[in-house]
Amino acid sequence: MSVTLPSTANKMKWVSGPSNAPLPPMVRGLPLLGNVLDLADDVLAFMVKQYQTLGSVFRFKVLNETYTAIAGPEANLFFAREGNDHFRSKEFWEGMDEELGAKTTLISTDGEVHARLRQLEKAGYGKSVVEAHFPEVVALTQQTLAGWSVGTSRSVLSSIQDMVTEQLGTITVGRGPGDYVADIRTFVRTALLVRVTRQRPGFLLHLPAYRRAKARSHELGQKIIEQHRRNPPIDREPNLVDDALAAVARGEILVEDDLIPMALGPYIAGLDTASNTIAFALYALHLHPEVLARVRTEAAELFAAGPPTPDRLRKADVLHRALLETMRRYPIAPAVQRTVVKPFEFAGYRVDAGQRIFIGTTVAHFIPELHPDPYRFDIDRYLPPRNEHRVPGAFAPFSLGAHTCLGAGLAETQIMLTLATLLHFGRFEIDPPDYKLKVRASPTPAPDNRFKLRLVEKRV
Ligand code: HEM
Repeated sequence: MSVTLPSTANKMKWVSGPSNAPLPPMVRGLPLLGNVLDLADDVLAFMVKQYQTLGSVFRFKVLNETYTAIAGPEANLFFAREGNDHFRSKEFWEGMDEELGAKTTLISTDGEVHARLRQLEKAGYGKSVVEAHFPEVVALTQQTLAGWSVGTSRSVLSSIQDMVTEQLGTITVGRGPGDYVADIRTFVRTALLVRVTRQRPGFLLHLPAYRRAKARSHELGQKIIEQHRRNPPIDREPNLVDDALAAVARGEILVEDDLIPMALGPYIAGLDTASNTIAFALYALHLHPEVLARVRTEAAELFAAGPPTPDRLRKADVLHRALLETMRRYPIAPAVQRTVVKPFEFAGYRVDAGQRIFIGTTVAHFIPELHPDPYRFDIDRYLPPRNEHRVPGAFAPFSLGAHTCLGAGLAETQIMLTLATLLHFGRFEIDPPDYKLKVRASPTPAPDNRFKLRLVEKRV
């Protein structure tokens, strides 16, 4: 299939190296605060608006710090092809490493070390990990339904998060968080908000609730490591933690301090990502009963021939397209941040080294030339001849380049299987029926806590 970029994108060019071009235009903001409120409110809406107003490169202020942003399909292509040479992840993520007590983590390393670490973690985060555990994923989803009384409503996000972290822990490191789930949630969210996105003040890290959650999360990590040391992979497949223990033993990349962060990695990576996407999918599907009905039919077929298998799930085309459209329309990672390490010129403006930069990877999801009527939930975008997700730079829910989501295949499979199970064994309605979606980013975008589903019928 041949795909072409829209004409506007073809005209834009980037040039690597120092440049005398002018600095990108500055977004108007409030005195002292700059654009801090716009960003806190909705990063995605802010980036889309600036792209439409100022173009594919612009600057904005957050308090007294100036950031550059690039966005749109050409920015995505630049990021995918040249990101390794021009950007570094370290500064954005290193605060999280400090909270975890890690020396080296995948997300905050760059270059050669990152490539080696990614290779080391590839199998542990691979799609085959979830494919080997379909019965557990289905059972944990059914367990959530079993504990939910017909006729009652639940706030969707927290129920889904509990279930998803239990699934992820079970399949990747051999145990779910169980009673530790609230601690993981408090620890991860607070650390991200203070140390990574810097949307909350530092004193939160000193509050007893955070310190306790952090200590308990580390305790869980320690238990996972001990469990693996006691039970080495002799008659079972090695997992992420076994691979990390082996690397430490060989003296390769990782040291002892990196083990707990490695054990907690799947909880951290999945807590707000897979869960928020499932919550958005449930919202979108219940808003579009005709798509919901088709997904339910597919789910019934999936379960009709016995327990679902990876082969049969792969054929669930409507469900897959509903997931793609959820990730396009409601991206949970609207942008990524980096530090510029090598200057470049982009769309006629220069970007100097040393700056913090936002790459608005999902702004392209809302460009009508790439995705007509972009705010409409339309799962037929992914059918030929439209294939909107195949246009280079047009679709990037998992980011792009060296750090593109390592768990993408695992996440897609886990999300599809969980949605199929929920919708096959349960029937829901939005409560109240006139609920209007409010997206809350803390820091990852998700439907707010007022998004509730009432369980109308169940079969478990
Ligand atoms: C819909 C669900 C998910 C989305 C949209 C998503 C999105 C992302 C994005 C945007 C990044 C790049 C961050 C950056 O460049 O700064 C990333 C990285 C990563 N994700 Fe995901 N993620 C999802 C689920 C998961 C799950 C379930 C796992 C594993 C259990 C996972 C594991 C990882 C890992 C290990 C990285 C770091 C990769 C690296 O630095 O090389 N993700 N994810």
